[in-house]
Amino acid sequence: MTVARPLFLTLVCSALSWPALHAADSAKEEKEPDEVSYYRHVRPIFQQYCQGCHQPAKAGGGYVMTSYADLLKPGEKGFKPVVTGKPDESFLIDQIVAREADKPPLMPKAANPLIGRDVNLIRKWIAQGAKDDTPASARQIVDADHPPVYDLPPVLTSVAYSPDSTLLAVSGYHEVLLHKADGSGLVARLIGISERVQSLAFSPDGKYLAVAGGCPCRFGEIQIWDLAKNKLQLSVPVTYDTVYGVSWSPDGTKIAFGCADNTVRAIEAETGKQILYQGAHSDWVLETVFSKDASHLVSVSRDRSMKLTEVATQRFIDNITSITPGALKGGLLTVDRNPINDELLIGGADGVPKIYKMHRDKKRVIGDDFNFLRSFEEMPGRIFSAKFNHDGTRIIAGSSLDRTGEVRIYQAASKPDKDMVEVSALSLVATHGLSTILLAPSLKASGHQVCKLEGQVGAVYSVAYRPDGKQVASAGFDGKVRLNDPDTGKLIKEFIPVPLTRKNQ
Ligand code: HEC
Repeated sequence: MTVARPLFLTLVCSALSWPALHAADSAKEEKEPDEVSYYRHVRPIFQQYCQGCHQPAKAGGGYVMTSYADLLKPGEKGFKPVVTGKPDESFLIDQIVAREADKPPLMPKAANPLIGRDVNLIRKWIAQGAKDDTPASARQIVDADHPPVYDLPPVLTSVAYSPDSTLLAVSGYHEVLLHKADGSGLVARLIGISERVQSLAFSPDGKYLAVAGGCPCRFGEIQIWDLAKNKLQLSVPVTYDTVYGVSWSPDGTKIAFGCADNTVRAIEAETGKQILYQGAHSDWVLETVFSKDASHLVSVSRDRSMKLTEVATQRFIDNITSITPGALKGGLLTVDRNPINDELLIGGADGVPKIYKMHRDKKRVIGDDFNFLRSFEEMPGRIFSAKFNHDGTRIIAGSSLDRTGEVRIYQAASKPDKDMVEVSALSLVATHGLSTILLAPSLKASGHQVCKLEGQVGAVYSVAYRPDGKQVASAGFDGKVRLNDPDTGKLIKEFIPVPLTRKNQ
């Protein structure tokens, strides 16, 4: 057993990016190295605690810390940040140690001071000559001054439309690519410090874009971009691993996300201050969504459950899905809320899109699945992403099996009602002419498949329904964004969202 345990930890960390190097606590116990390495010891501290505010996209005090060369250049105040061999004369050290016993150090600004061990490591590195030992293979820096270079299309983890249907945001490596929604051109590249971008969400007013990502086993980050200037407004470091499933409260004041330390969290959009922390899940939390009135937060996790949290009290309220053993099959990967009525759409490892109601109005009885409303037909493999359309009448769901992917559109209204008949009749008239209207009543039934999207190739990790209802986007393993017609499934356009190096164009 004594042999198996450390082995297991290493495996978990490398294979699943689990934060085995958990936090400062375990670091404290580690012996300080005799020879301090910039690449292995110092740079990770800067990445985690400083670069959010000291990068080309956002350079606090005019000081950039993302590359070694910039790190040595003075900021606005003009003092040398690093004086080789002399930590006490280095302005960087001056900023991270307390000048008076009862006052915190100036940096990191508005955050907890660095722990003593980290300060010592930086001091010792400067004392030993402040050398750059970055291996040649890792010299490539990526920041706003050094945009990512792609030899091949990257795996795409997230696509999202702006509320006015003009923009499509696509995840890249170290960046978000803002495209025109019809795929006719790249508008901007939002380059930040997180190498992985897991999830994207436009603010309800469309003025900001929230990004969840990080560096596996190192740090997580929430970025908030101001889209009027395409400028990084806020970089909030969170946990020691990549974060997921970012969502805005409908009033635009809060941003929620899920973490690999099994917590669900929310911050104030304006300040980045954490206002919600809930630890009831027992595995990674992969997606979040607020209730329409922003009073509750819903989260789904690899632990198979969908949980409800009260925002004001941060209190765990209920398991929305059944907790009866055997009732749930595999982890949940996606959740979305019906924009009209708070119904919740989930998808996950069992490949079956399901709709639940948010609030239980009857006492839980062991074995019940009271909030369950409806399931759709099973899709091949796992569902990584599922979304409602703008009026909650349809859903889009993308799934993956082996190396193939499939995306389907279904009718979604919770009860077949008069409006639904009219809506489907109208769209049918529009697409197929008047004669089909006679068939409309049979199509009103919720759960009916509208179409399967043409042209899917690899695993699908993200889908989005354009708010004007006229197009849908999907993306995944093969690195292409596909735009389809949600009524017919026809492929309208496919494109690689990143600029490729010339030899691969
Ligand atoms: C939340 C944002 C934020 C974080 C995190 C942060 N800084 Fe700063 N830093 C600033 C701002 C803004 C300034 C400009 C002075 C001010 O407003 O206090 C600054 C100024 C500085 C300066 C002086 C630059 C000059 O010459 O004017 C140094 C050095 C510095 N920071 C180092 C660090 C280090 C080291 C860390 C990490 C341990 C860090 N900062 C983390 C925001 C931040």
